[in-house]
Amino acid sequence: MRRMSITPWRGVALLMAAAGPWAAAPRAQEPENPFTSRIDVRMGGRSYQSRCATCHGINATGNPEAGGPDLTTGQFRRAEGDAGLFRVIREGVDGTAMIGLGENASEQTVWQLVTFLRTLAPAGGGIDPGASPAAGQALFAGKGGCARCHRVDGDGGRLGPDLSFVGDRRTPEALETDLVDPDAEVLPRWWTITATGPGGETVEGLRMSEDTFTFRIMDADENLRAFSKYGDWSYERTETSTMPGYAETLTAQERTDLAAYLYSLRRDP
Ligand code: HEC
Ligand code: HEC
Repeated sequence: MRRMSITPWRGVALLMAAAGPWAAAPRAQEPENPFTSRIDVRMGGRSYQSRCATCHGINATGNPEAGGPDLTTGQFRRAEGDAGLFRVIREGVDGTAMIGLGENASEQTVWQLVTFLRTLAPAGGGIDPGASPAAGQALFAGKGGCARCHRVDGDGGRLGPDLSFVGDRRTPEALETDLVDPDAEVLPRWWTITATGPGGETVEGLRMSEDTFTFRIMDADENLRAFSKYGDWSYERTETSTMPGYAETLTAQERTDLAAYLYSLRRDP
């Protein structure tokens, strides 16, 4: 049994609230793309073939040899919104082969490239046409029990990551995988530690911090406890997720609905 079951601790809330990397920051007014006609798509496609295809592939699905990532997923790690794409294309990504077109490229050329890249995203944002985001939302708060650990727009628990904008960083397919195999990639922030004292007593909880000499965990009674690694207590780190897998407890349709709902949670749908 790799997975451990853990009761929710309300107090985790206070500590984690401050740490949420997705705390919403209001976005400044961004310029809108003025070049979005069909001709712009065509011109953008042409610039793409002459200036980008060597590194990102003729079909823009990426070129592993040149290190250029797939640009057809509709998701960009480096850019948010059209204005973000504009910046990446013009300024590049510091310290990488992605140099950017520079100031000499006209705004029109850069916007047309943005327009072209937008046409490459999967239709409907990649959501399965048979999926119902509304049904997914109901599952999330109800039978699925997801809200116990996850927040969306300020509602829900804090034993797992805030999912308010999870659609910005996960595709629908990746979201479905998260539900079936939560242990696939677990950030250290969500590891747990079980500490065992000299009398066999145990304390288990989220691993809040760890260094060479000490570790701190948030136990089931919401207490933050610090331990020395060289004291009487032994400890065991669990790098798997506290999130249960839903391969059996939810149907495939329910998982697809949940993924569609979560994918709809984007800043820029
Ligand atoms: C010399 C190779 C090279 C060329 C030419 C190049 N790129 Fe890139 N591009 C890269 C690499 C490498 C990255 C990944 C940088 C990183 O994030 O580590 C990248 C990243 C990007 C990203 C960000 C992807 C993301 O997920 O956020 C966009 C958008 C992009 N390129 C568009 C373009 C466009 C449009 C052109 C043509 C004007 C172009 N690139 C030309 C190598 C290149
Ligand atoms: C017992 C608490 C718990 C429950 C219940 C739970 N999760 Fe999670 N979830 C976590 C934790 C902790 C993580 C982070 C570690 C990991 O990636 O598995 C996570 C990760 C995720 C991720 C990946 C988030 C990211 O940023 O990549 C998604 C998506 C997700 N959960 C969706 C759900 C959905 C949908 C449900 C309900 C069907 C659910 N979770 C139920 C604790 C929980």
